[in-house]
Amino acid sequence: MKIIAIVSQKGGTGKSTLACSLAVAAAEQGLKTSVIDIDLQGTTKKWYGRREAEDGPEVNALTGGQLEAAIPLLRKQGVQLVIIDTPGADTPGVTAAIQVADLCLVPARPSVADIEASAPTINAIHRLGKSFSYVLNQVPPGRSIRTMDAYRVLQLTGAVASTPLAMRVDHMDALATGQGVTERDPTSKASAEIRELLEWLLNKIEGKAHGQKQTRVA
Ligand SMILES: Nc1ncnc2c1ncn2[C@@H]1O[C@H](COP(=O)(O)OP(=O)(O)O)[C@@H](O)[C@H]1O
Ligand SMILES: [Mg+2]
Repeated sequence: MKIIAIVSQKGGTGKSTLACSLAVAAAEQGLKTSVIDIDLQGTTKKWYGRREAEDGPEVNALTGGQLEAAIPLLRKQGVQLVIIDTPGADTPGVTAAIQVADLCLVPARPSVADIEASAPTINAIHRLGKSFSYVLNQVPPGRSIRTMDAYRVLQLTGAVASTPLAMRVDHMDALATGQGVTERDPTSKASAEIRELLEWLLNKIEGKAHGQKQTRVA
């Protein structure tokens, strides 16, 4: 069982959006997937409440303090991938999520504010001896010098997913309808990006990712 914690102390970077769509895409690939929502805002839990699909990932809302006990239970149930959605704040729950994770995914928009604000998150991950990857999210569609600049800055940390996610209404609509983007329109660009990101993350967890791969937005 592998565990991805989606963390960033800044709100609005796309943690919940990615948790939902990555989980659906993983389930579509046949991975038994469970999402744990430790954010009191409960965005992912509410998304789950709007779901009409019978299959797909399961979502449970827990406190950070319940995480350590929950993980062995999920393992026992045969869950293969756990995705933890966390609040955009520095809380003991986020620390607990980082501690149980195989990989921390840090979404950031291609803005100075997001990148600067991610520093305490990255420091916390380092302190706990965990590995991480940034992913650029909500980037302007198409070629953008802003995206390339942000990508290069993040690449200096040695860990940025090669697939930036563009700003696409599919993500907003999927969140509103309790779907993943790959369910909403399997042929959309948003779907392709989410599948590519998932593959990159799973490879990274297995130690197979190539950090030098050229970004697709270039
Ligand atoms: N790639 C994207 N394209 C368009 N909208 C996005 C994208 N990622 C996130 N959003 C939107 O941005 C807002 C904040 O995202 P959310 O996942 O709730 O962030 P967080 O959980 O980090 O606070 C939501 O309205 C969501 O629909
Ligand atoms: Mg959220």
